[in-house]
Amino acid sequence: MTQDRVYIFDTTLRDGEQSPGATMTHSEKLELAEMLDDMGVDIIEAGFPIASEGDFKAVSDIAKRSKNAMICGLARANFKDIDRCAEAVRHAAQPRIHTFIGTSPLHRAIPNLTQDEMAERIHETVTHARNQCDNVQWSPMDATRTEYDYLCRTIEIAIKAGASTINIPDTVGYTAPRESAELIRRLIKDVPGATEVIFATHCHNDLGMATANSLAAVDAGARQIECTINGLGERAGNTALEEVVMAMKVRNDIMPYRTQIDSTKIMAISRRVATVSGFAVQFNKAIVGKNAFAHESGIHQDGMLKNAETFEIMRPEDVGLSETNLVMGKHSGRAALRSKLKDLGIDLADNQLNDVFVRFKDLADRKKEVFDEDLLALVRADTADEQSDHLNLKSLRVICGTQGPQEASLELSIDGIMHSVTATGDGPVDATFKAVKALFPHTARLQLYQVNAVTEGTDAQATVSVRMEEDGKIATGQSADTDTVVASAKAYINALNRLIVRREKSAPGEDLKSVSYKDAG
Ligand code: KIV
Ligand code: ZN
Repeated sequence: MTQDRVYIFDTTLRDGEQSPGATMTHSEKLELAEMLDDMGVDIIEAGFPIASEGDFKAVSDIAKRSKNAMICGLARANFKDIDRCAEAVRHAAQPRIHTFIGTSPLHRAIPNLTQDEMAERIHETVTHARNQCDNVQWSPMDATRTEYDYLCRTIEIAIKAGASTINIPDTVGYTAPRESAELIRRLIKDVPGATEVIFATHCHNDLGMATANSLAAVDAGARQIECTINGLGERAGNTALEEVVMAMKVRNDIMPYRTQIDSTKIMAISRRVATVSGFAVQFNKAIVGKNAFAHESGIHQDGMLKNAETFEIMRPEDVGLSETNLVMGKHSGRAALRSKLKDLGIDLADNQLNDVFVRFKDLADRKKEVFDEDLLALVRADTADEQSDHLNLKSLRVICGTQGPQEASLELSIDGIMHSVTATGDGPVDATFKAVKALFPHTARLQLYQVNAVTEGTDAQATVSVRMEEDGKIATGQSADTDTVVASAKAYINALNRLIVRREKSAPGEDLKSVSYKDAG
């Protein structure tokens, strides 16, 4: 290992997917894994194989298709989890088992293990994992709230049992940069065998310090950063891959570390993750936000025109942002569309491309200029429809304006059978949602309804995001259309379709989010 090399461990498909509502389909996971592999991620944590048949299959298919990246699966500290994980990753050219247990007093209390009992469990499970796979990573969950002496003891046991990577999770986003660095420095100094393994940092963003904490840990000797695209993850999310990579690149003078990430692929994967997870990137998000390279004030624009470096510390091209945003029009053909989508990081199968092309032509007829964002919204709507076809919008006509009540007449196909209804409501969207509910009665609660204009102008497409909750299960839906009410109806129906899929696969133990970390002990 060269001292300046930092390994990038991406857990978008595991920790990222644990964000409530961020469930991804099988094909989306395979597609993202390929993009991560292509951009140079060293280790892809592809899922939690014991969680469900779907998760097992995703990890195993990703393992089979992996090119350069090491493929890792997560396993709690029990033999059943570890065996299932070993089975899932075994086809990878470079497989890894990542096993963990909560070591802090609060986490030890859940399985009710004493320090000695837990130490014994760590010894047994890491040894077992090592017998199944040559490459084992071990994590003491909630390490930053674990008694220091006990943390050292558990890490020493894991190293002796054969773990070659020791991950130090700040599970609840509690630490701060100086403390994060100090912990890694002390562990490397105090734990016997520590200099023979790689220390990893895994930070959550509850106090907004995840990226800073990860970089501080690297300064202190950690050589693996665990992160996700767009910082996706439970609660406030994880360290964002794009932030650590660009920070080390732009400030290499003070952080002289190297990764093998091709930063020009960042923007494409960020957009794709936003699309498939349903978690839109906030406009002012570092590196990948819509405004990260936008300059509005007169002074800034003037400075930019004279010399871009006045207000930009990196070039848009460094993260794969093309300078010209206006691309396609109604005369563009299928090949041009395919090539443009490829630039945006989207590789569609022929039948999907055909569908998107039809929608593109329809949009280009209605809208003067078709921007990258429009195309991304089209693809999002298209692949979203493909999730499940239990419910399909056939037609919608609304009456709205100052003379209420507003009215929606809806035709909906439910499992191939056409139904229609007219409903009234407090506004056209409310009337539309009531019409859907009249045809497909359900108890799901609308938690979020959000509308954004994809581009400027009154002919802009509206992207609508909807988040629904039913019996603790959350599903999001998105859609885009130049008609905001149509986009709303489609997003609502898309969320319901996803919820139906989640209902179908949520027999006990069948769903990642229903697997508790309790069994870790
Ligand atoms: O945050 C955490 O502690 C985790 C572990 C499973 C490593 O994600
Ligand atoms: Zn985590």
